[in-house]
Amino acid sequence: MAKITAAITAVGKYVPDYILTNQELETMVDTNDEWITSRTGIKERRILKEEGKGTSFLAIKAAEDLIHKNNIDPKDIDLVIVATATPDMLVASTAVYTATKIGAINAFAYDLQAACSSFLYGMSTASSYIESGRYKKVLLIGADKMSSIIDYTDRATCIIFGDGAGAALFEPNEEGLGFQDEYLRSDGVGREFLKIDAGGSILPTSEETLKNNQHYVHQEGRTVFKFAVSNMADVSEKILERNNLTKETVNWLVPHQANKRIIEATANRIGLAEEKVMMNISKYGNTTSATLPLLLADYEKELKKGDNLIFAAFGGGFTWGSIYLKWAYTK
Ligand code: UT7
Repeated sequence: MAKITAAITAVGKYVPDYILTNQELETMVDTNDEWITSRTGIKERRILKEEGKGTSFLAIKAAEDLIHKNNIDPKDIDLVIVATATPDMLVASTAVYTATKIGAINAFAYDLQAACSSFLYGMSTASSYIESGRYKKVLLIGADKMSSIIDYTDRATCIIFGDGAGAALFEPNEEGLGFQDEYLRSDGVGREFLKIDAGGSILPTSEETLKNNQHYVHQEGRTVFKFAVSNMADVSEKILERNNLTKETVNWLVPHQANKRIIEATANRIGLAEEKVMMNISKYGNTTSATLPLLLADYEKELKKGDNLIFAAFGGGFTWGSIYLKWAYTK
């Protein structure tokens, strides 16, 4: 019997309509389009403005896009994982609500949180369930409403993040396509440099924490930047070496979209030509758990069956890693 691998067989996406441009940010904080563009590569990001709508709204839309475009019966889905750093609520699972709303009534569901590496780690989880033979259809959604945790008076963070969601369906493959290898890392030293201080179990929300803006994301950008550049490049290089891949045999780099300069540094380290690097950061900014599936959805038409894809991500915690996957279909 052929070995079962875990292939991505369908993708979907959703971004909110509202576009927050660099020009609008210039009216909110002391910044300018030239600084943002040259330091990050970001021109605009999408924001979910409607009150009362959270990350599940984005996740449901992305899942529905995947389901409708590919004629999937949601009743056939076994498991729904929502990778997110901004769940609807602290306790009630965003994935459970999402699964019910999309009609995945036979699935179980849970959230997975690893900051900007949530989707990457989720790929490992989804693939393992498929490879084990336990489940046949795992829907992995990366979704974040970053605008819900951003201080729009803090120019160091508000220019970077945006809202969005992407979804990927994992199914068994007997041609050797799909998930091939992973190198996933984490290091708690990172906790100090990218975090939300309040609202968790160490420092529950209080009048004091609200007054001090401790319910917003705080990032020491320069430190995170340094760790991200070296670590994302290291793991990508390692995955290539381990799988005897070269810059010629890699078809695509699928990098987390945090900063154009970090992406370029990773691509340069493995010697990859610019046209092999997926990039949409200029349109969406950093959507945290949604960057990788949004890339897949945006580039889906260019991907060919058998293409070698190298995923790489870095995020808070610190969390980071690289995954090698062979694309399983041509549109
Ligand atoms: O996705 C999860 C992981 N996150 C990341 O990978 C993000 C990593 N970090 C970064 O992408 C970059 O560090 C940032 C984009 C956040 C910042 O870029 P930078 O080149 O590292 O800038 P910096 O923080 O070193 O600041 C340089 C200067 C400072 O002024 P002085 O001290 O040199 O006078 C900042 O105050 O730029 C200033 N600055 C700004 N100026 C205009 C910081 N933010 C802004 C701004 N507009 N928005």
